[in-house]
Amino acid sequence: MNNIYENYKTYKIITFGCQMNEHDSENISGMLESMGIKEAETPEEANIVVMNTCSVREHADKRFFGMLGQFKKKKEEDPYFIMCVCGCMPQQPRIVKEIKESFGWTDIVFGTQTISRFPQLLRKRIETGEKQLSIIENSSEIPEEDNAKRLHKHKALVNITYGCNNFCTYCIVPYTRGREKSRTIAEVTEEVRRLADDGVIEVMLLGQNVNSFRDPSGGDFADLIREINGIPGIRRIRFMTSHPKDISPKLIDCYRDCGKLCHQIHLPVQSGSDRILKRMNRHYDREKYLSIVASLREACPDIAISTDIIVGFPGETEEDFKDTLSLVDQVQYDSAFTFIYSRREGTPAAVFKDQVPEDVKHRRLIELNEHINQSALRKNQKYIGRTEEVLCEGRSSRNDMAWTGRTDDFKLVNFTGGRDTTGQIVKVKITDAKTFSLDGTLA
Ligand code: 5AD
Ligand code: SF4
Repeated sequence: MNNIYENYKTYKIITFGCQMNEHDSENISGMLESMGIKEAETPEEANIVVMNTCSVREHADKRFFGMLGQFKKKKEEDPYFIMCVCGCMPQQPRIVKEIKESFGWTDIVFGTQTISRFPQLLRKRIETGEKQLSIIENSSEIPEEDNAKRLHKHKALVNITYGCNNFCTYCIVPYTRGREKSRTIAEVTEEVRRLADDGVIEVMLLGQNVNSFRDPSGGDFADLIREINGIPGIRRIRFMTSHPKDISPKLIDCYRDCGKLCHQIHLPVQSGSDRILKRMNRHYDREKYLSIVASLREACPDIAISTDIIVGFPGETEEDFKDTLSLVDQVQYDSAFTFIYSRREGTPAAVFKDQVPEDVKHRRLIELNEHINQSALRKNQKYIGRTEEVLCEGRSSRNDMAWTGRTDDFKLVNFTGGRDTTGQIVKVKITDAKTFSLDGTLA
């Protein structure tokens, strides 16, 4: 008998962007695996390729279309091959238009809010041969989360909110991921219990702004952390991302009270200038941000703090940029993601008149990175000679002889010695510090 599904044995997902996308890809993997389709080593070998896209990064459109174009040949050579595009890119109507006009051979296009329909779309495409498109701009639906195929056995990403209501003036996310929706505490804790039963010891709670999590039937983000802190088997709780405007004293107290809450926070500041923060629509000023940092350090003196910063936002003067440098020097971050402002069509800042020239933006980025790297190295050097608990994640990608893992405060550690302890928390003596990582030996 000729079974058309016979032609679909393998898939490959190519993921861009944030942890939200990474987790969406885990969910898509889970769906494909439950259809009996297995992961291929490379996209070239796969019968189905899914590109899970991001629209935050610089030159995102160009890069995306460049990569998609590379699959045209495979599509021409293999009549059964199925090309799918999902994620943030197709949430923008102009991108869907361009896919239809110039990449019309793409088989399935779906958005960030229709992921759960993917198996249905795939079946329809295979059975009818017709192209499938499924995009919703602002669904109130909360996707069901089960069966994700985790990247790691011992640690898991867990969505707690979807979407964003903040409309920072540079950011495309509220347009690509829709309005904010929270899951319930019961749902999230049930998922975490299931994960713990399956061997997970570390959970990363995900949302564009986790601090505004609100269970529709009562309970806030701090209540959620306290609940998860009580789940047997779970040993580490992390979360990202936090919006400074919504950090509550109740959340800060969790750092005192919840033993499993990791001593680490990612707290994007974006700029050190009050004027720019206002134009970014961030709803806090420099003083408020610094007072949150002070309260966090009071509750948890060894807390590691990381951040996101944008240079060259429209209207950013040399004075504004100096304010960012002085804030960075004052806070002494453990690490930071630094970005050159890039215009996102459809966002308010894209039409601000006073765009900063490219060469100025680049110069500022280099200078900012120097300041960040100095404080990161200084922070890391304090670890030399200490023994740290590291959750081993497997072989180091840099060095075949070494293992790699993270400390409680999210420092990346490459270490030698011993047997394979992947998935376990082991003691590592730190012997050397670099800007982005620590070296050590199994204690
Ligand atoms: N240009 C530069 N950086 C941006 N980010 C978001 N949008 C833009 C943009 N248009 C950065 C912010 C955010 C991080 C995920 O990406 O710093 O916190
Ligand atoms: Fe974008 Fe601001 Fe929402 Fe973060 S909080 S996703 S930067 S709009």
